[in-house]
Amino acid sequence: MCGIVGYVGPRDAAPILIQGLRDLEYRGYDSAGIAVMPNTGDEIAIRKREGKIANLEAAVRGGVPLQGGTGIGHTRWATHGRPSDTNAHPHHSCGGDVVVIHNGIVENYAELKAELKAAGHTFASETDTETIAHLVEQQVTEGLTLSEALRHTTARLRGSHAILALNRKEPGVIAGARIGNAGGIVVGFGEGESFLASDLAAVIAHTRDVAFLRDGEFVTVTASGVDCFDQDGRTITPERRVVPLDPVSALKGQYRHFMLKEIMEQPVALSDTIGSLIVVDPPELQLMALGAAAARLKDTKRVVLLGMGTSLHAAMIGRRYFELFAGIPAEVDNASEFRYREPVLDAETLVVTVSQSGETVDVLEAMAIAREAGSAQVTICNVEGAQTTRVADGAVYTRAGMERGVASTKTLLTSIVALYCLALATGKARGHISPQDLAGRIRDLVILPEAVASVLADADVYEQMAPALARFNDFLFLGRGLAYPVAMEGALKLKEISYIHAEGYAAGEMKHGPIALIDREFPTVAIATRHALRSKMVSNIEQVQARGGEVLAIVTEGDTEIPGLVRYTVSIPDVPELLEPIVATVPLQCLSYQIALQRGCDVDQPRNLAKTVTVE
Ligand code: AGP
Repeated sequence: MCGIVGYVGPRDAAPILIQGLRDLEYRGYDSAGIAVMPNTGDEIAIRKREGKIANLEAAVRGGVPLQGGTGIGHTRWATHGRPSDTNAHPHHSCGGDVVVIHNGIVENYAELKAELKAAGHTFASETDTETIAHLVEQQVTEGLTLSEALRHTTARLRGSHAILALNRKEPGVIAGARIGNAGGIVVGFGEGESFLASDLAAVIAHTRDVAFLRDGEFVTVTASGVDCFDQDGRTITPERRVVPLDPVSALKGQYRHFMLKEIMEQPVALSDTIGSLIVVDPPELQLMALGAAAARLKDTKRVVLLGMGTSLHAAMIGRRYFELFAGIPAEVDNASEFRYREPVLDAETLVVTVSQSGETVDVLEAMAIAREAGSAQVTICNVEGAQTTRVADGAVYTRAGMERGVASTKTLLTSIVALYCLALATGKARGHISPQDLAGRIRDLVILPEAVASVLADADVYEQMAPALARFNDFLFLGRGLAYPVAMEGALKLKEISYIHAEGYAAGEMKHGPIALIDREFPTVAIATRHALRSKMVSNIEQVQARGGEVLAIVTEGDTEIPGLVRYTVSIPDVPELLEPIVATVPLQCLSYQIALQRGCDVDQPRNLAKTVTVE
């Protein structure tokens, strides 16, 4: 979760680190800190503050100027130790010579801490990370270089880690380690300067020439170069690549929030994604990044779809596509549950993971199980070169541009498109879908950007409804068929950005318990579009209203009956059934956004959350 950044070069490190942390703030915002090492070998200066990066910036501005061209910075999502100035990273050793930042959990920190204390080390913070600084210090005191000391130290840590470290006695050097799937480390190759970061967001403004550390790899960067090693200290050559990410899409521009910007970008995100995955005339799929997985689609007998949060909802929708287009059993599972079962997998199972970031720890661990079992793997991802894309046999990239709001929006819609195309490709490879059906399904995609744009053109409607709806503390979201995951997504969006309790249910389940919740203070959002088993949904609506519950219904344009039944209605255009979840999700995003604004919530950085979940 946490964001880490490092810089070494001729410029002052502090402003570069702070900008880098701003770019990574979506990963955690409980506290932030930087350490800057003077080129002279003098003491490493640390500034850190609880809360958002603005607090750190104020501390840096108000204090003694930080001079030096080498530094590391961290934005924290707290795991061990509450958010506070003291628990903020960077952490230093007793002597102050070694300074570290860390993303991950030292699972055996209690025993390490006891051992270090017994050896005379004193601890300043409640964090697990501080043990790393003390362990590295022990090693450098014995004569090892920082890089060697970090390798020896990581051998003693349980869990997954991304670590950057400085040693006052080695000016101009940053050592880094990536162990397991706690988070990546990107190395950026500049002109006479080098960069390190948890992800591309903090590097892309400086260089597009990058390499991603793999599990078990170590790096030492100076202004003039980058050296990579394996756990035994053998030199390895990093796989350099030039990334195409567009930094402009990371800027908030005219919008009040990234989430709003990203909602409004959805027609373009869809059009870019669809344009990259199909050609229309003649209709054909072009899944260019499928790699070795392409040849295995024809032998696929079963599909397992995995994801977390919003990406899990995309996977739930994708299941139907595989069943229909490829005619094979498809299952969907939460990656964090899957990884702790004994899942039955084989070489004829296609494992499809959905992760917009490509960094989610549970997804990566599930992928490791699938690899062990010899299953083919395709990942749906929005970040070229992200970890999942390096583990999978192939990828289907979404072209949504960078998503900065913690609440996923445009990456959901584009992930559904990617799943649709992958399912079509599987159906085609297996000979299950006819050429005519395939051509028609491909053509269907073309209308999506326009359909979503037309929903967004009515965005005022949500602003008008929000004041009345924002007073409720509970919501029920109901849907059937493909609208069931849409209902779950609507509930997730509402709870994460407005802190309102919301339940997403299959509408058929309503009478099996949830109906007991309904009263005048517990409204229901019902997805009752033409394709969502509408007549059954009308029954649900009537049953809710009979118990005094207010209803907001999402209906298909032209529906004249449901608007007469319910208090609030939102209409969406009539699109092909299988693509309707893409359009039906948009009103729920807009509604959540407006309700969160009404309640004064921090839409882009909701409490307790982080954009990318890299620890368990
Ligand atoms: C939803 O708004 C959240 N951002 C969250 O549920 C997210 O979808 C989940 O953490 C998975 O992230 P990923 O797609 O990057 O793997």
